[in-house]
Amino acid sequence: MGFIEFFKEFFLGFWDYETPKIMVVKNRRLGVIYRAVQLLVITYFIWYVFISQKAYQDTETRPESSVYTEMRGMGMLGDSVRDTTEYVTPSEGGNVISTILQREVTYDQRQGKCAEHYNVPNANCTTDADCVKGELDFGGHGQRTGRCVSYYNYTFKTCEIRSWCPIEEFAAVREPALVEAINFTVFIKNAIHFPKFKVLRVNIKPRKPKKLLKCHYHSKTSPYCPVFRLGYIAEQAREKFSELCRTGGVIGVFINWKCDFDVDPSACIPSYSFRRLDLRRNLPSSGYHFRFAKYYYKDGEEYRSLIKAYGIRLDIIVHGHAGKFSLIPTIINTVTAMTSVGICSIICDWIMLTFIDKNEVYSERKFDDTSKESSPPAVTQLTISSYGSTHSDLSEGVPL
Ligand SMILES: *[C@@H]1O[C@H](CO)[C@@H](O)[C@H](O)[C@H]1NC(C)=O
Ligand SMILES: *[C@@H]1O[C@H](CO)[C@@H](O)[C@H](O)[C@H]1NC(C)=O
Ligand SMILES: *[C@@H]1O[C@H](CO)[C@@H](O)[C@H](O)[C@H]1NC(C)=O
Repeated sequence: MGFIEFFKEFFLGFWDYETPKIMVVKNRRLGVIYRAVQLLVITYFIWYVFISQKAYQDTETRPESSVYTEMRGMGMLGDSVRDTTEYVTPSEGGNVISTILQREVTYDQRQGKCAEHYNVPNANCTTDADCVKGELDFGGHGQRTGRCVSYYNYTFKTCEIRSWCPIEEFAAVREPALVEAINFTVFIKNAIHFPKFKVLRVNIKPRKPKKLLKCHYHSKTSPYCPVFRLGYIAEQAREKFSELCRTGGVIGVFINWKCDFDVDPSACIPSYSFRRLDLRRNLPSSGYHFRFAKYYYKDGEEYRSLIKAYGIRLDIIVHGHAGKFSLIPTIINTVTAMTSVGICSIICDWIMLTFIDKNEVYSERKFDDTSKESSPPAVTQLTISSYGSTHSDLSEGVPL
């Protein structure tokens, strides 16, 4: 029986219209707080969300990008000329390009037997018994032969190894740095595509390539000329060029496209920034170097020149962000803004009930305590009685 009654009540209650009651509190202090909080929320949405963050736009933050780089310049090393083929790697010119600034060359290495370097663990020896035959230490340079020999022209002895001889640490010759490199230029061409908006942008203006290679980048006077001096890049990255020549280094070239397609798309020009990416100076492993070898044959035997190259590596990193007006984000953010204004009442309710409502007058009126009423029908009565006037004015009888 009770079960049916419950459903009957629920069914009847379902067709009632419910509306919240509004309570007007005539309190100047609370009113000022309320309007101030409201102003703050509205300002935040209009100024920050809509004007600064452009919440009315649809955005694309992962554009497709392609980079082509080309290094130019020429230097003298003693009497020999160094051109791009010698100092630029890789020759393709992708988004990583490096210039060799200084080299350590170990000439005429060939497969043979020679003394191991004395800094390798267990390499120092006095007799053959100190060296284990066939041992291959990855920290060393080759396979031990089991003999103890004098370290090249020195008096102390180390274990003999089978390797490319002589070893680099003993025989390497450091060449002078390529000081002219400070005036070398790198041309960075970058094409970017925003698939959502179907816009393709390039960081150069289509014009005669001859003219393009003569200019230098300047953010105001020549923004369409992505030709940078290496000295300029080092300066922008706040690094000393002479220091970079000595240790080498990795510098990030950041191309930043921030485009607003609601205005003229031709205003979409990238900005460039430079920052050193490898470990800081003063650390033993800081800097950038790599090794390669040149092979040749002399009397039918294979020789190589081992080159340890110190240089500047440029990593070109492209960031893109584009926006255009779109109805859906505008609606979503407008609704969010309007809903957020409701936070003001929550804050003010809390202030009112916690700090201002000393005599608990407001809370008594705000929360109609149904448990004080005799029976549930009284609640219905209350709802009906307040139906015509949902505003109840609390100005009188409230001690402020
Ligand atoms: C080996 O001997 C040399 C010369 O005496 C010394 O400089 C070097 O520190 C020694 N190496 C090791 C690993 O002890
Ligand atoms: C060993 O020879 C090199 C040149 O090959 C020389 O520079 C070095 O001073 C010599 N060392 C000794 C201890 O004789
Ligand atoms: C780099 O170029 C400037 C001006 O073109 C010149 O004064 C300077 O000597 C050059 N630096 C080197 C190391 O060649």
